[in-house]
Amino acid sequence: MPEKGHPLIRRLGIEDIEVMHEIEKLSYPYPWSRGIFEDCLRVGYACFGLQIGQALAGYTIFSWAAGEAHLLNLCIHPDWQHRGYGSLLLEYAINNMARLESEAIFLEVRASNPYAVSLYENRGFKIIGRRPLYYKAGEGREDAIVMRLELHSEKV
Ligand SMILES: CC(C)(COP(=O)(O)OP(=O)(O)OC[C@H]1O[C@@H](n2cnc3c(N)ncnc32)[C@H](O)[C@@H]1OP(=O)(O)O)[C@@H](O)C(=O)NCCC(=O)NCCS
Repeated sequence: MPEKGHPLIRRLGIEDIEVMHEIEKLSYPYPWSRGIFEDCLRVGYACFGLQIGQALAGYTIFSWAAGEAHLLNLCIHPDWQHRGYGSLLLEYAINNMARLESEAIFLEVRASNPYAVSLYENRGFKIIGRRPLYYKAGEGREDAIVMRLELHSEKV
């Protein structure tokens, strides 16, 4: 049963990896390994979590450099999905990337993930290309859809 309480967004650290990885495994058919989360924290990528009461309900990870930001992960625990928390965390990440003087945000999403694509499209991301056979999928591979949000017109 999901926890009750106001959502709070906080910075995540090494002590949160175990829970992040549990959420990751529940949410993706091809989850990141623990090592990828460790690497993200080690190299200083931004990792923020959505905390509700005692529970971590989701997280987002992004990198930024030379005016470009990359949204690397956005994930909400299945028990907490469809309540607006994905949008909330996405908005928080976008505001932070804009403050870091990024001019555009890029992301890749599996072609088989239309919910995520519509979440990003609703927020103004545009599809700018495809990376053929980018992701592992079953016995084969599947395309990545590449999306971009221009931040010039975003108010921060
Ligand atoms: C994608 C994800 C982050 C969305 O989080 P969420 O909290 O469920 O999303 P929200 O409740 O904020 O919904 C935002 C929008 O997402 C889309 N969406 C989310 N779930 C959907 C569903 N089941 N059916 C259709 N659209 C859906 C809709 O556009 C929705 O907008 P709407 O409520 O105005 O229709 C979440 O489903 C998730 O973690 N999925 C697994 C991991 C993943 O695929 N991450 C994205 C990788 S790039």
